[in-house]
Amino acid sequence: MTHIFAHRGSAGTHPENTMLAFKEAARVKADGIELDVRLTKDGEVVILHDDKVDRTTDGTGFVKDLTTKELKTLNAGAKFKDGKFRAEIPLLKEFLEWFKTTELVCNIEFKTRSLKNFELVRKTIAFIRDMKLEERIIFSSFNHFAIVYAYRVAPEIETAPLYSEGLFNPWIYAKAIRAKAIHPNFRSCPKELILKTQEHGIKVRPYTVNEKNEWLRLFKCKVDALITDFPEKARTFRDELKR
Ligand code: G3P
Ligand code: MG
Repeated sequence: MTHIFAHRGSAGTHPENTMLAFKEAARVKADGIELDVRLTKDGEVVILHDDKVDRTTDGTGFVKDLTTKELKTLNAGAKFKDGKFRAEIPLLKEFLEWFKTTELVCNIEFKTRSLKNFELVRKTIAFIRDMKLEERIIFSSFNHFAIVYAYRVAPEIETAPLYSEGLFNPWIYAKAIRAKAIHPNFRSCPKELILKTQEHGIKVRPYTVNEKNEWLRLFKCKVDALITDFPEKARTFRDELKR
């Protein structure tokens, strides 16, 4: 059965990457949550997609130039649905405390451009190991250096390369970097590629799939999971097809 992963929480219905969105994903019985992590000025791991806070909060500036204390004063719900929700930017460790009480899987996406400084990866692994959550975590990144580094430090945690355009014979690449899955853009994910990748024992989890016709195609192809902003709708649709 194809799992449903809630993209940035349930980002289509609640402010992305906030506890409100994550709790909504649990409420609608998504199988997993996808979220983005990056480092603050004072070296804390926070959950935020962009390198700046401007698009999603009432603040301005780069996350790397703001302290945790400054980030915590911002409203991460400010730019969503006329600000009808109010939410903080969550720290990864705050999220994990709650996540530990659920049965969800979590796909943590590293937002880092560096090819040699992996403080973000090391700190994330330390939190996960402290809480013994290794089996319920999947690491992904568009920066494949980050997930190769993560595998070297924590081979017990699954990794998956993200990519948006064509990757030729992705199962060969996935095996070469010891990844257990690929996370392609759903537009770069034809049926033959899905089947061939899975035949080689590599899972396929396309992102970010928000249209019914694409859900149907991917359910028929039996992808391992799909990452969507609308987990409730996708799950209802999947359950209807099963009947
Ligand atoms: O991990 C899937 C998806 O989140 C990748 O793109 O930009 O939404 O982080 P983005
Ligand atoms: Mg992401």
